[in-house]
Amino acid sequence: MSTTEQSGQKTAKPELAKGKLGIMVVGLGAVATTMIAGVEAVRRGIAKPIGSLTQMGTVRLGKRTDNKSPLVKDFVPIADLNDIVFTGWDIFEDNVYESAAHAKVLDKDLLQQLKPYLETIKPLPAVFDQFYVKRLHGTHVKKGKNKRDLAEQVRADIQAFRKTVDRVVMIWCGSTEIFLEPSAVHQSIEAFEKGLDANDPGIAPSQVYAYAALTEGVPFANGAPNLTVDVPAMIELSKKNAAPICGKDFKTGQTFMKTVLAPAFKARLLGVSGWYSTNILGNRDGEVLDDPESFKTKEESKLGSLEYIFQPELYPDLYKDIFHKVRINYYPPRGDNKEGWDNIDIFGWLGYPMQIKVDFLCRDSILAAPIALDLVLFLDLAKRTPSLKSIGIQEWLSFYLKSPQTREGLYPEHDLFIQSMKLKNTLRHIMGADLITHLGLEYYD
Ligand SMILES: NC(=O)c1ccc[n+]([C@@H]2O[C@H](COP(=O)([O-])OP(=O)(O)OC[C@H]3O[C@@H](n4cnc5c(N)ncnc54)[C@H](O)[C@@H]3O)[C@@H](O)[C@H]2O)c1
Repeated sequence: MSTTEQSGQKTAKPELAKGKLGIMVVGLGAVATTMIAGVEAVRRGIAKPIGSLTQMGTVRLGKRTDNKSPLVKDFVPIADLNDIVFTGWDIFEDNVYESAAHAKVLDKDLLQQLKPYLETIKPLPAVFDQFYVKRLHGTHVKKGKNKRDLAEQVRADIQAFRKTVDRVVMIWCGSTEIFLEPSAVHQSIEAFEKGLDANDPGIAPSQVYAYAALTEGVPFANGAPNLTVDVPAMIELSKKNAAPICGKDFKTGQTFMKTVLAPAFKARLLGVSGWYSTNILGNRDGEVLDDPESFKTKEESKLGSLEYIFQPELYPDLYKDIFHKVRINYYPPRGDNKEGWDNIDIFGWLGYPMQIKVDFLCRDSILAAPIALDLVLFLDLAKRTPSLKSIGIQEWLSFYLKSPQTREGLYPEHDLFIQSMKLKNTLRHIMGADLITHLGLEYYD
């Protein structure tokens, strides 16, 4: 028996990443500007892309004794950072330098060095409606007779940008919208297009952008917990136009920790009776999330992971009655430097209780920026990969997201290490390399 396994079928390898990759960012706020400034700093050799799997990660090939672990970017044809061109939309006119200065994530010295470049990226007017983000008052906003007209304007933006680059990917780094549930308008492309004409309130601005991207065959990533592409109409469009999509909401701070700790408890059959999570956060994201309707969207996304990881239906004695609570409090003095506390009540042998406390003093956008970069680079790779480009949802990118998206009827994998294996095995698979199962018996033959 071998620790490796053929990936089953012969797959055509991805096309090479030739020419310029255009990244269209919706929302040039803290995360987006930290990503853009970071990419430029790395290009100039003044900082390292820490936290980015596409830039620093390796992938083991073959047996452990083969000693073969190339960099991910040397193994799969990922776009080179020097070939990336950024543009984007925002509801404010600030260029990327001004917006980054406002976000106060990066040091003034670093921003000063990058200023000439960052100033050149000026936002296009946005599709925005305050009904969907109560705490923001947009001034740099497109006007149109209905949502269809706005979608056509975004398509025109994409078409114009496309003339200057070779490939395009879109990523939502905009604010969290109010909680929306899928409705009739989301059930098919036809229903959705009628909804655009009729200005259906079920269609949020993020969906206008996503519709435009997918109609143009442009892959779309969603950094926020908004419903956006998590509906049948968008999945249909994604498949039809070979425009890959993935789940939503960057998995950065507290949920990242949760999806590391929870699988560990489950692996050791330790029970959990309660998990209380709270955060203080003082950036604009925190301000938006202070609105109960936007918070509801985030709450749903944050609550989902434990239920799926613990599988209480399989382990009722351990996880049936977990009390799980998530809170986010807007606290301006901390800015982007979020503090997330977790109190976890666990129990062990014979039911004896124990407690774990986690206090993560993190930097929200520093954690999110490499995730945003990896997502766009991998979506671009998916678009160039014959076996991936028309399947719609790229489940292998769940690794990066609080709310993985899956085919209907399939439960999502939240365990970070399963997600990591899935991602790396997908890379091996598309390159025709053997998959790794970690069995390892052949070393003892
Ligand atoms: N930083 C993290 O760790 C993290 C983790 C998970 C999810 N997120 C999500 O990522 C998103 C961005 O976070 P951030 O900290 O950069 O927030 P931010 O408030 O700094 O930036 C959001 C930007 O989007 C703009 N915007 C809002 N609606 C828009 C629209 N319709 N069109 C164009 N622009 C629009 C805002 O003007 C703002 O500049 C948020 O939804 C947040 O919840 C962040």
